[in-house]
Amino acid sequence: MTSDKTKPQQFSLTTPLYYVNDVPHMGSAYTTMVADVIARFKRLKGLSVLSITGTDEHGQKIQRTAVEKGLDPQEHCDRIVASFEDLWQKLNIQYDRFSRTTDQRHEVIVKEFFQRVYDNGDIYLAQQQGWYCVACEEFKEKRELLEDGCCPLHPNKKAEWRDEENYFFRLSKYQEALETLYQEHREFIEPESRRNEILNFVSQGLQDFSISRVNIDWGFPIPVDPNHTIYVWFDALLGYVTALLDGDQEPTLENALSQWWPINLHLIGKDILRFHAVYWPAMLMSAKLPLPRQIFGHGFLTKDGQKMGKSLGNTLNPFDLVDRYGSDAVRYYFLKEIECGRDGDFNETRFVNVLNADLANDLGNLLNRTLGMTKKYCQGVIPQVTEFPPDHPLKTIGKNLEERVTKAYETLRFDNGCEEIFNLIRASNKFIDEQAPWRLFKEKKQGEVEAILAAVLESVRLSAYLLSPIIPNLSNNIYQQLGLSVDFNDGDRVHQTAPFIQHSQWGKIKVNHILAKPQPIFARLDLPEEEST
Ligand code: MSP
Repeated sequence: MTSDKTKPQQFSLTTPLYYVNDVPHMGSAYTTMVADVIARFKRLKGLSVLSITGTDEHGQKIQRTAVEKGLDPQEHCDRIVASFEDLWQKLNIQYDRFSRTTDQRHEVIVKEFFQRVYDNGDIYLAQQQGWYCVACEEFKEKRELLEDGCCPLHPNKKAEWRDEENYFFRLSKYQEALETLYQEHREFIEPESRRNEILNFVSQGLQDFSISRVNIDWGFPIPVDPNHTIYVWFDALLGYVTALLDGDQEPTLENALSQWWPINLHLIGKDILRFHAVYWPAMLMSAKLPLPRQIFGHGFLTKDGQKMGKSLGNTLNPFDLVDRYGSDAVRYYFLKEIECGRDGDFNETRFVNVLNADLANDLGNLLNRTLGMTKKYCQGVIPQVTEFPPDHPLKTIGKNLEERVTKAYETLRFDNGCEEIFNLIRASNKFIDEQAPWRLFKEKKQGEVEAILAAVLESVRLSAYLLSPIIPNLSNNIYQQLGLSVDFNDGDRVHQTAPFIQHSQWGKIKVNHILAKPQPIFARLDLPEEEST
């Protein structure tokens, strides 16, 4: 049932819409950085991209938080939203849409969607009894809870007993259609481990789920019964649709779905997989709409082995981290160090060591010393890339690097992509040490000196280009020092100034630049206090 209408030249992707119970933590920042890197890579390749993020602002969890703070819920949401926007700016995230579920246009979309599903006979009233985890905004089976009645994801929050009349969505009706979807579109859920998790869950039999709440007024009223409020998840998933409206478009489903639907990629954390891979496609099937292309569930950032989260209070403050180390450093560490589908632990000593080793030493020093030699041995004129023998050691690695790195970006294995690129960088360091251009210069072998420096600088350039979705500011700096004026923060235009087909290849770019004084691109970081003493 996925539509084949997706236009190949465009790509739309979403982060989850974050709860605004607190300011963003590193977990939320992680998903958003990953989404930004994918969006930037697609733009680099010349695709037209719509990148969506936003906030999920209704429901009991948010209402309670606002009450605890003595704030009106909307005022509370507005404050927290400002901190999300601020963090995305600090982290150099380029999003196209920021979807807020308290947006008035969203209510119109939710109502229209609800009505469709209702008219299709998939919504009915019944009694709901069960344990509710407010932090997850989800009913849990008794067997899913810990002995003390807390849910494992929020071990300090007790699930609450509920016995009330709710509207239900007929999820069970879609059991077969969902199983067919997973069979026919293996790529629908990635990575493999998450797919298996869902196959296993669905094979146990799907239960209808409740999509309304009573006694909560922080949400949209159910169109057919205003005593009920629409369940926060039913509301939030549709935030992805509202986000597709242009600024001045009338909020109708037809308008929202006209250009960018179906979404190519919903990027989420593994805890909200069921909502996206089971509930969401079933809701869309009921409304007779095409389905998104892929749901990718990444792992958790952990601290001391426990999920880092607002409810547990064991978060890492992304604002501090980016203030201390800069956006590229933070982006690089999380993309390079964590295999995207798996959990990854944060440790500040490791953080500093990785950045010093890769960005300051291997990449930064390589550029700096090569440019220094260019100044000294070539009157500061970067040598032209000349013909290189086919078995040139750097050309050999650089030649098909683009293909390997593209595969890594497209399968969200950014760790592998960085590894491939740093292979070239490390080989370049080795090459320059072995070739010792300083000796050749003394021997007056100017041609050889120039060929060595040109090959190394070309390798650094290619590395900067391929790393630009992850470390755009450093890539800008490198390109600039090589005399190439490209701004990797320039959205869609990057592809015009630095076309992928040309810049992603080793040996295709002509540089003829007179050097200013080379500048270090990344200053070595100090280890955190307690570690260095
Ligand atoms: N509001 C819902 C999403 C609705 S989408 C229509 C929600 N919000 S959340 O703020 O709690 O979580 C948002 C995302 O952050 C989820 O994908 C979640 O997996 C991710 N993370 C929260 N803590 C995390 C870590 N410690 N590590 C990595 N990501 C984690 O769920």
